[in-house]
Amino acid sequence: MSERKKKAIENYKNHVVRARVREYERYGVVFVPGKREGVWIWDVDNEIRLLNCRSSGGVFNLGHCPQKPTQALKKALEYLDIGDHMLLSEYRANLAKRLADLTPNALEYVMFGASGGEIIDFSLKLARGYTNRKEIISIKGGYHGHTGLALAAGSPRFNKKFGGSPPEFKKVPFNDIEALEKTISEKTAAVIMETIPVPGGVLIPKDGYLKQVRKLCDEYGTVMILDEVQAGLGRTGRLWAFEEWNVVPDVLVLGKGLSGGVYPITAAIYTEELQSIFDDDPFIHMSSFGGAELGCVASMAMLDELATEEFLSHVREMGAIFSKGLAELKNKYDHAIVDVRQRGLLIGIEFPTEEMGRGMTGALAMNGVLANHCGNKEDTSIIMPPLIIQEDEVKFVLNAIDNAVNFLTTNLNG
Ligand SMILES: Cc1ncc(COP(=O)(O)O)c(C=O)c1O
Repeated sequence: MSERKKKAIENYKNHVVRARVREYERYGVVFVPGKREGVWIWDVDNEIRLLNCRSSGGVFNLGHCPQKPTQALKKALEYLDIGDHMLLSEYRANLAKRLADLTPNALEYVMFGASGGEIIDFSLKLARGYTNRKEIISIKGGYHGHTGLALAAGSPRFNKKFGGSPPEFKKVPFNDIEALEKTISEKTAAVIMETIPVPGGVLIPKDGYLKQVRKLCDEYGTVMILDEVQAGLGRTGRLWAFEEWNVVPDVLVLGKGLSGGVYPITAAIYTEELQSIFDDDPFIHMSSFGGAELGCVASMAMLDELATEEFLSHVREMGAIFSKGLAELKNKYDHAIVDVRQRGLLIGIEFPTEEMGRGMTGALAMNGVLANHCGNKEDTSIIMPPLIIQEDEVKFVLNAIDNAVNFLTTNLNG
């Protein structure tokens, strides 16, 4: 190991989060990212090269250091900075209009943030401000970030050490419309869920489920918030995951890949009706870095590349190759692969035990693939490559999954 890598690990251990280093050592993956390009990421020592199937949850939808957003950002740095968030902004306004144009008609207004948690907090504030109610219903095992309201709407794993979730935050299982029916009332400000809960297990909505959620929200005057921080922006082969189920939320939340991984920027796109919360006081929600003008420039360039039919059809094509290969692997390892849940390049592979799900993370790394198991359902591996992945690279990942499952079934069983 080089001095550079040793120093990075020591500094991380002594000054960032020491237990993380211990955790990675336990998995046998002490990887310090160095060079990165396209779907690949190298260790600082250049000895390990991994195909990034984490994509940091969608941050790297366009791969690492994508050309268009990077060039746009570099150019903008010659004449622009982040801007003053209290003033009007040409860059925020133009990006807001573009996002409104790319989403269904009902979604017209945009608030920007610098992180997913922040913009989820804004969306929940929006619902509370509009309805004048406090109660929030979210999904058991759902995930929306680590800030105040977002954390409270998430799982106990992440909030129990910090005071837990207040009683006005209720949780229901995903795909269980009866549970929602029993919980929702005139007191409910918002129902929030990921269109496809990823950390909860890459769960696919049952036919009709999201429509029934929409109907219940309409019945009770409750705001429906869909979090597409991971599932949106082309990941499923459609620009927005919710399109498949023919529903339109009142608020759509985007994050992660919104700038192509070169600038932190997130957004909530919402209806004109909800905008009325600003009528009395237009400054009741602000963010110094939210929608930074430099980020808006990068985001526009990202959309130039991603929001095209050609790009989305590439995602579907690569998804189909995965689908065929994974069906073959499921046949081959019928006892070890319990389920494959997939939409486009968002894939969850469920194994019989959490031990195996966790084991896959290390075994895949040994086979050249960076992936993760679900944070709230550890028996499931998430395969989320950059959307620019090519056919030979999909085959590389399928081969790595084959080897990893083979290795684990041999070693865990015996
Ligand atoms: C579905 C979902 N929502 C919200 C967030 C929070 O985003 P951030 O980490 O930018 O705060 C995440 C982050 O992983 C996420 O996966």
